[in-house]
Formats: sequence, C-alpha cells, structure tokens
Amino acid sequence: MSYKILSKRELCSNQYELEIEAPYVVRNAKAGQFIILRVEKDGERIPLTIADVDKEKGILTIVFMAVGYSTKKLAQFKVGDELVDLVGPLGTPTHIKKYGTVVCVAGGYGAAPCYLISKAFKDAGNKVYMIMGARTKDLIFWQDKMQNACTELYITTNDGSLGEKGFVTGVLEQLINQEEIDYVIAVGPMPMMKAVADLTRDKNIYTEASMNPIMVDGTGMCGACRLTVGGKVKFACVDGPDFDAHQIDFDEVINRTSIYKDYEHKRDENCNLLNRRV
Ligand SMILES: Cc1cc2nc3c(=O)[nH]c(=O)nc-3n(C[C@H](O)[C@H](O)[C@H](O)COP(=O)(O)OP(=O)(O)OC[C@H]3O[C@@H](n4cnc5c(N)ncnc54)[C@H](O)[C@@H]3O)c2cc1C
Ligand code: FES
Repeated sequence: MSYKILSKRELCSNQYELEIEAPYVVRNAKAGQFIILRVEKDGERIPLTIADVDKEKGILTIVFMAVGYSTKKLAQFKVGDELVDLVGPLGTPTHIKKYGTVVCVAGGYGAAPCYLISKAFKDAGNKVYMIMGARTKDLIFWQDKMQNACTELYITTNDGSLGEKGFVTGVLEQLINQEEIDYVIAVGPMPMMKAVADLTRDKNIYTEASMNPIMVDGTGMCGACRLTVGGKVKFACVDGPDFDAHQIDFDEVINRTSIYKDYEHKRDENCNLLNRRV
C-alpha cells in the first residue's frame, strides 16, 4: 500500500497540512482517532490525529507542527512523495452523543483535531461552541472550516491580535457563567488541558481531555503511553486518547512526556545541522 502525499500546505508558521492517499484508513475513521506514521525506514513511529477525511476519495488529512526530528523530516515531504508506512485508524473515537450544549476547547495543534470532533457533536444534535486559542493571529488557521463545524466560534490570542485577548479558559469561564454547559472537551498542550480541567472541576461540568503522551506501538503492547486515570493505569493509545479530565493525573503525564527531552533535543540539533549542510 502506498501512502502518497496528494497536497501540502503551510497553514501558518511551522504548521503543515498534508493530504494523503489512504483509502483503507479513512474508510472506518472516526472523530478523535489517530494514525501512526514513519518518515524513514527504521525511523520512529509518530502519532498524529486524523484531522479530516474524504471517505469517497479515500483522502486522509493531517495537520502537524514541525517540532523535532521526525516532524521536521515530514515537513520536507513534497507532493508525490510516499511515506514509509502509516497505520490507523487507532484509538477509541471521541464519545459522541447528544449532551445538549458542548464546548470544544482547542489550543495550538489541537485546533485541527477539534474540527472532526466539533462536526460530529453538531451532527449529533448538540449546540457546539468552539474556542480556538493561539499565541497570536498568525497561528490561527482553518477559521472558515471551523465556523462551519460548530454553532459559534470564539478565538483567543495571548497578544489580543485576533479575537479575545488572553487564554481559552477566559472565554470558557464566560460561557459557563452565561449558560448551562453539559460537556467540555479539551484538545491541545497538556498545561492548557489541565487548566480547563481545573476550571470545570470547580463548576462540576463533565470534561474530557484528549491525551497526547509519548506513544510507540499504538496498540496497547509497549506501555509507553500509560497514564493514571482515577487511580487506575490506562493506555492512551487504546483506552483513549480521550479521558475524564477530572480523573487524570496530569502532573505524572507531563513528567513522563519530558523524560526524553535531552535525547530529542540532540537529535533535533543533528537534523538542523544536516539541513544546513544540504
Ligand atoms: C494521540 C496523539 C495525537 C497527536 N496528534 C498530533 C497532531 O495532530 N499534530 C501534531 O502536530 N502533533 C500531534 N501529536 C504529537 C506528535 O506525535 C509529536 O509532536 C511528534 O511525535 C514529535 O516527534 P518529533 O520527532 O518531531 O519531535 P521530538 O523532538 O521527538 O519530540 C518533540 C515533543 O513531541 C512529543 N513526542 C515525541 N515523540 C512522541 C511520540 N512518539 N508520541 C507522542 N509524542 C511524542 C514529546 O512531547 C516531545 O517533547 C500527537 C500525539 C499523540 C500521542
Ligand atoms: S503506545 Fe504502546 S501501549 Fe500505548
């Protein structure tokens, strides 16, 4: 099976959208699931969320931030190139049902995964508010697409260059004070999801967070992605990635995620050196 790149777009600084030919993967893909791909033979396996699918044409869309060795290599792929391999869909889909009023909170690269999630909640008959947060307006993408996937879209930027100035939690708090919210889902950087969980815990609103710990096999065999939820060990790749955010031991996951930082940094430096020599 070939996984050919059909289109490539730089959505904003350092974030890319790729359309990939993957008919067998998209056929059964659901909101909240992910794929694992490799960019080179013997390379590491990197998990990326299924950002969009065209089931008729067999096209998978991924959106990623080039943060380290493998994602920077992926950013160098051109239209017509083929990935070494790709598996999916993996993980348990987001628990879509009719809750009433749902808020999808997206930060950083979490914006792209929130598209299918928000759309699925809307199709299930929910009123869906989406809050998209970024440092500055140049990092906001898919605005029109997001608008269509929800009932109302809110944007926050740390510097106030677009939408509300501040963090996603500011708008979330306003919405909670304004009307009854039945369910919240947070997708993005771990500290942001933790802040959302802290806010909704106090307000007693059921909340899920889409967890992104280090993953290797993605099938529940290696234990790399383990985390503690409600005092029990869970594997994010098969039991999640979405979990009850009020039960997650965020500090443990944040610590585990940074254990390879030195190694990742060295490998990234080597990659940058190689790129400079080319
Ligand atoms: C279920 C899931 C869905 C994800 N979806 C997206 C997405 O849609 N878009 C996106 O930009 N990123 C996504 N990520 C994060 C992405 O997998 C990492 O950015 C990528 O693996 C980094 O690899 P690297 O070699 O480029 O960087 P590295 O320098 O190796 O790592 C940079 C940082 O990425 C994280 N990371 C590294 N390796 C892994 C790994 N195998 N699994 C998980 N995290 C890792 C670590 O926090 C690390 O500090 C997702 C992660 C998970 C677990
Ligand atoms: S990635 Fe290996 S058990 Fe989840």
